[in-house]
Amino acid sequence: MAVFFANGFIRVPGISAFIHPIWILAAIVFGVAAGYLGLLRYLQVKGKGGLLPGRFNPKAHIAFGALFLVLLSSGFLWGIWTAHRYHGAIARSFHFYLGVVILILYAIGAVIGFLLTRGIKARRRWAFIHMCFNYSACTLLGLQVILGILLLREYL
Ligand code: HEM
Ligand code: HEM
Repeated sequence: MAVFFANGFIRVPGISAFIHPIWILAAIVFGVAAGYLGLLRYLQVKGKGGLLPGRFNPKAHIAFGALFLVLLSSGFLWGIWTAHRYHGAIARSFHFYLGVVILILYAIGAVIGFLLTRGIKARRRWAFIHMCFNYSACTLLGLQVILGILLLREYL
C-alpha cells in the first residue's frame, strides 16, 4: 500500500517487488519471439512449413533467445535483491528454487543452441534436445509466474 509522507512524497514500500515481474515480463516477450521462430524451424524440418505464418530466421532467433536469457537472469538477480532487501533473507520459498531450475534448463538449452551455430555432429538430434530443454523451461516459467503473483500479494 502506498504511504504518504508529510513532505508530500509517496513511498511505495515494495516497489522493487513490482519492477522484478515487469522486467521478467519484458524478458518473456523476447522468449516468446525466440520460441515461435524455433517452432517455425521445427515445422519446416517436418515438412509442415506453411502451417504457421512467418519464416525461420536464425539470426533473429539467436538474438531474441540471447536477449531473453540476459533479461531473465538479471530479473532473477533483481528478485533475489528484493527478497534480501525486504526480508533480510533469500531462498524463502519454492519460487527461488524453481527459478534456479529454470535458469539451469535455459542455460543448457543456450549452450546447445550455440553449438548448433558452430556446426555440430548429429545436428538434428541436438536441435531436438535444444528444443526439449527450452520448452520444458517455458512450461516451468508459466508455473513460476503464477507462484510470483501469489508472492506479490505480500507487497500490496
Ligand atoms: C541463446 C539462445 C539460443 C540459441 C543460440 C539458439 C540457437 C538455435 C539454432 C542455431 C537453431 C537451428 C538448429 C537447426 O536447424 O539445426 C535453433 C532451433 C530451435 N530453437 Fe533455438 N536458440 C536459442 C534459444 C531458444 C529458445 C529460448 C527457444 C524456445 C523458447 C528455442 C527453441 C528452438 C526450437 C524449437 C528450434 C527448432 C528445433 C528443431 O528444429 O528441432 N531456442 N536454435
Ligand atoms: C512475472 C511473474 C513474477 C512475479 C509476479 C514475481 C514476484 C516475485 C516477488 C514478489 C518476489 C519477492 C519474494 C519474496 O518476498 O520472498 C520474487 C522473488 C524472486 N523471484 Fe520472482 N516473480 C515472477 C517471476 C519470476 C521468474 C520467471 C523468476 C526466475 C526465473 C523469478 C525469480 C525470483 C527469485 C530468484 C526471487 C528471490 C526469491 C528468494 O530469494 O526467496 N521470478 N518474485
